Amino acid sequence: MSDNLYNVAIALGAPGRGILAADESTGTIKKRFDSIGAESTEDSRRDYREMLFRTGAMADHISGVILFDETLRQNAADGTPLVNIIQEQGSIPGIKVDKGAHALAGFPNEKITEGLDGLRERLQEYHKLGARFAKWRAVIDINDDIPSETCVKANAHALARYAALCQEMDIVPIVEPEILMDGSHTAEQCFAVTEYALKCLYDEMFTQQVFLEGTVLKPNMVVSGKKCKEQASVEEVAELTIQCLKRAVPSAVPSVVFLSGGQSDIDATAHLNAMNAGFDLPWQLSFSYGRALQSAPLKAWSGKSENTEAGMDAFAHRAKMNGLATLGEWSADLEK
Ligand code: 13P
Repeated sequence: MSDNLYNVAIALGAPGRGILAADESTGTIKKRFDSIGAESTEDSRRDYREMLFRTGAMADHISGVILFDETLRQNAADGTPLVNIIQEQGSIPGIKVDKGAHALAGFPNEKITEGLDGLRERLQEYHKLGARFAKWRAVIDINDDIPSETCVKANAHALARYAALCQEMDIVPIVEPEILMDGSHTAEQCFAVTEYALKCLYDEMFTQQVFLEGTVLKPNMVVSGKKCKEQASVEEVAELTIQCLKRAVPSAVPSVVFLSGGQSDIDATAHLNAMNAGFDLPWQLSFSYGRALQSAPLKAWSGKSENTEAGMDAFAHRAKMNGLATLGEWSADLEK
């Protein structure tokens, strides 16, 4: 079993490839569809995701796809299970298993991710449906007096418990402690909170005997808050992020795949490229982007079947650019 876990964790971060996060909940995908004036129905969600999964560039650049429960069970328009289409592209199907971030009792403005109850049984079913890895996202916000130690530790505990349950079912856990970039904090503040959250996470992973070689970390990059007046440069983000990860992430973890978290498409690619081009790294460093891979194809598609080709082209381009960034071979010129 541990060989399987390790092989999947390595494959997910393989050089030149990365993960497509297409696991938006029904509420979130509706918001994305609203932004392009498309109606969100079971069929339209299927059509949109089928377009992504059938894109040729998937085979070269997408190592795995994180799905929402509905999509894992859904068939393409011609009746083929969407999971089969992903597998035929040589990509691994995964599943989001958390039940979202909810108010943390006693700690205003802080959140705890729920979903541990009944998780063992759900994982059993997800494995039967083809999922070989899973995702759980914790959400940590930075403001004057948050995050609290309680919030960071409660979320680390839940992440480690989820990870242990996944491995029991031969499913690779992606652990995602996301420090949000919404505030006005500096990159240095983001560094301090990220380092603390990662150290708490790996402390809990050790306590709960999680097999690190069979896990994947999905962290935020160390960036300035969106409302911070002094934005860190690409070089600064790369340097701070690598320094932070080197302090806190054991080299036993095979793959580290970043979330995009609201960065522009180009920033997310440029940052990843700078890290892979300029540093000696103990882990494979790749991407697990939602918005930074999907905003361009979503816009190009705009809910119209006649735009399917354009949507595929837009997705292929971002997948290729980010694939190059995992090799440190991307440059801004290639965006033209
Ligand atoms: P973003 O890249 O849009 O942050 O999404 C990644 C993800 O899966 C968040 O859980």
